[in-house]
Amino acid sequence: MKKQKIVVLTGAGISAESGIQTFRDADGLWEGHDVMEVASPQGWQKNKTLVQDFYNQRRAQLHTVQPNEAHKALAELEQKYEVCIITQNVDDLHERAGSSRIVHLHGELKKVRSTIDSNLVYDWDGDVTDQDKCEKGSQLRPHIVWFGEAVPMIEIAAELCAIADIMIIVGTSMQVYPAAGLIDYVPTNSDKYFVDANPAAVHAPNLRIIQDKATTGVRRLVDELLAK
Ligand code: APR
Repeated sequence: MKKQKIVVLTGAGISAESGIQTFRDADGLWEGHDVMEVASPQGWQKNKTLVQDFYNQRRAQLHTVQPNEAHKALAELEQKYEVCIITQNVDDLHERAGSSRIVHLHGELKKVRSTIDSNLVYDWDGDVTDQDKCEKGSQLRPHIVWFGEAVPMIEIAAELCAIADIMIIVGTSMQVYPAAGLIDYVPTNSDKYFVDANPAAVHAPNLRIIQDKATTGVRRLVDELLAK
């Protein structure tokens, strides 16, 4: 029998219990910084060293955190379903939990790219310094989608949503577009689930809201879907 397709949209809330701070649960500060200072092209132009240091710290933090029960449960869904994770997160916890199809909408901490040719993307672990250059000689920058920048993966994500039999949304404030609009691409009759500790008011046909922490809420939902 053909496997049903599940598309999963995750946000910062799925990694919160692994010890990575969310964006909007701390007065607009992100790890002590004004989000616009460290996550916008203007912030980069103003102080490249600050921005580079900030992402170096976030990259280093990945060595101190582990995937949690929610990441692991989503990976288990592949036993029975064709699953694609669309994540707004820049961490690598879905990869490390074992999910095999992951679309990073907002970039990845473990990649950097050229500042003159956005096609030159490099795997990276460790710090980036001013001395690190792309093969064309330009400075490297974090491979992160900052506020005001295009979201190149959004079309692929929308296509995946349009053919999904089931959508699961986990730990996102559903405030940031275009990611938050992906739910509207999912067919009307497809089941939709939204697991969040403090869920935003989201309206869609066939939507079940599960107010719970990611580790417990996702585990229960996955067990339910695997038992079907
Ligand atoms: N379990 C489940 N949900 C949680 C938990 C938890 N343990 N902790 C927090 N949450 C929920 C919050 O209730 C909130 O709805 O996670 C959500 C976090 O929201 P945001 O901080 O806004 O994160 P996110 O939605 O991923 O932000 C989207 O904004 O800053 C940009 O590019 C950045 O990808 C990010 C985007």
